[in-house]
Amino acid sequence: MSTWANLGLQDSASPLMEQLIFFHDHALLILVMITVLVGYLMFMLFFNNYINRFLLHGQLIEMIWTILPAIILLFIAFPSLRLLYLLDEINEPSVTLKSIGHQWYWSYEYSDFNNVEFDSYMIPTNEIANDGFRLLDVDNRIVLPMNSQIRILVTAADVIHSWTIPALGVKVDGTPGRLNQTNFFINRPGLFYGQCSEICGANHSFMPIVIESVPVNYFIKWISNNLNS
Ligand code: CUA
Repeated sequence: MSTWANLGLQDSASPLMEQLIFFHDHALLILVMITVLVGYLMFMLFFNNYINRFLLHGQLIEMIWTILPAIILLFIAFPSLRLLYLLDEINEPSVTLKSIGHQWYWSYEYSDFNNVEFDSYMIPTNEIANDGFRLLDVDNRIVLPMNSQIRILVTAADVIHSWTIPALGVKVDGTPGRLNQTNFFINRPGLFYGQCSEICGANHSFMPIVIESVPVNYFIKWISNNLNS
C-alpha cells in the first residue's frame, strides 16, 4: 500500500505491474531527453542574431525534424502495445473472482466454489482497530492464493464503479449490464489495498478493496471453511 510521502508508484506485487513500472520509467526517460533538447534549443534562441537574411527554406532539416520525432514515438508505441496485449491475455486462471460494485461497497462471489459470496464494507473511522488503516480497511477481505493466475470479473449493480489495485496493476470499470474481465498473478503474500476509482456518488471515497494474498493451502482451508456456512 501507499504510505507517507510515497509520491511515485507502489512496489509491484505482480509481473504485469512490474512491466508497467518498467514502461513508465522508459517513457519518462524519453520524455526527459526530449525536454532537455527542446529546452536547450529554446534557450539558445535568445542568442540568435539572424544572420541568414535570405534563408527561405531548408528541405533537409524539415525532413529530419519531421521523421526523427516519428521514430522516437515508435519507441514508445511498440512497448505500449506489447503491454496492452499482455494485460489483456488470460493465462488459464485457476481461480475466478467476481466483484460487483454497489453504492457504496463491493460484493464478491467465488463462482468456482459453490458460489461463496459476501459483501465488503469499509470500516468506519470510529470503529477502526488500533493497527487498522483509516478509509482503507474493510470488514470482509478477499482471500486469494499467491503464485496462481487469478481471473477477475467486474460488474456493477447501480452506477459505474472501478475495481483498482495499484500494486497489482489492475484497474477495471464495473459497469451495470456488462461483465468486464482481467487477470493477475500475485507473486508474494500480504495485504493489497485498493479503492474505487470511478466517481460513483457521495461515498465514492469510502468503498476500498483489500486482498489478502495467502499460500494456496491456506486458501483451500479458507474456502472450505466458508463452503459449510
Ligand atoms: Cu464506486 Cu467510486
